[in-house]
Amino acid sequence: MPIIRVENLVKRFGNITAVNDVSFEVDDGTIFGFLGPNGAGKTTTINILCALLSPTSGKAFINGHDCMRESSSVRKSIGIVFQDTTLDKDLTAEENLLFHAYLYNVEKGERRKRVDDVLRLVDLFDRKNDLVKKFSGGMKRRLEVARGLIHRPKVLFLDEPTLGLDPQSRTNLWEFITELPRRHSVTIFMTTHYMEEAEVCDDIAIIDNGKIIAGGSPEKLKKIVGGDVIYLKTRDNVLARDTIKKTLDLDASIRDGELFISTVKGDACIPELIRTLGDSVLSVSLQRPTLNDVFLKLTGKAIRDEEASGADTIKAEVRAYRRRHS
Ligand SMILES: Nc1ncnc2c1ncn2[C@@H]1O[C@H](COP(=O)(O)OP(=O)(O)OP(=O)(O)O)[C@@H](O)[C@H]1O
Ligand SMILES: [Mg+2]
Repeated sequence: MPIIRVENLVKRFGNITAVNDVSFEVDDGTIFGFLGPNGAGKTTTINILCALLSPTSGKAFINGHDCMRESSSVRKSIGIVFQDTTLDKDLTAEENLLFHAYLYNVEKGERRKRVDDVLRLVDLFDRKNDLVKKFSGGMKRRLEVARGLIHRPKVLFLDEPTLGLDPQSRTNLWEFITELPRRHSVTIFMTTHYMEEAEVCDDIAIIDNGKIIAGGSPEKLKKIVGGDVIYLKTRDNVLARDTIKKTLDLDASIRDGELFISTVKGDACIPELIRTLGDSVLSVSLQRPTLNDVFLKLTGKAIRDEEASGADTIKAEVRAYRRRHS
């Protein structure tokens, strides 16, 4: 039985349809990635699953409990790390966790031990008596994960857990999060804007404008892009494009002074291209598809804010390409 089941979920706010007929399932003990650009409907879906918001229509179940009718059983089954931090900065790490343990009805005699256990888990035991306002962003995020785990939930929701963290803190936090299903039998439901972070997911659903537009493992999704891309610079790109078509029957397009060739087996193609074009070749590189390429292909947008602002697909693709090669 899946640990999360969502059927035809709809949520409207006035005339905005934030979640538009969404259905998916998540298997127990897996890492599930819910990906989409700003305003896609991710947080709204999470809020419904966590029994914090009622849907307009549709059904959702966690651990067999109906998210609308059995909200207290649902809340016991889940831990949440919200998109915006919700720690009390004027309390110590330990006080924050003790308060949460109390809210979640962890037995009185058991609370301090549980708090110590989760603080050790996130490597903050030595800082337990420090005020949270003295913590760095990464430490606060780790403390929130600890808090989400204190009542031993079946599912941990992480809404943008690495937002605002530096690359090293992001990597550390992910290393820790990806170990959780195996070590603590918890299912992870996460959102992120960083596509490379989604590589750790067993399964992914991509949501755009409130609708799920694709799903599957990272490998399956990458197949949507249709294989590799070869980038080729030559002395005469127009001539090279015509020669490639005539001799190898491959379609190339020219963009920004370069030839782009989409092909299933890029590595096998490169020697043939070089044989055919000879001295005219100035440089060649091969790009394997990434989840960001999948996202660009499906939505025409890069997943992160700064890339998505009104850019057309080609500009965004070229920027993504430049970044990969800089
Ligand atoms: N309480 C609300 N009242 C009105 N509209 C809302 C409310 N909450 C969300 N929305 C709208 O619903 C849509 C989806 O928002 P949501 O927060 O679910 O997106 P998101 O995918 O989490 O985006 P982000 O990546 O920016 O966090 C947006 O258009 C948003 O403005
Ligand atoms: Mg959100």
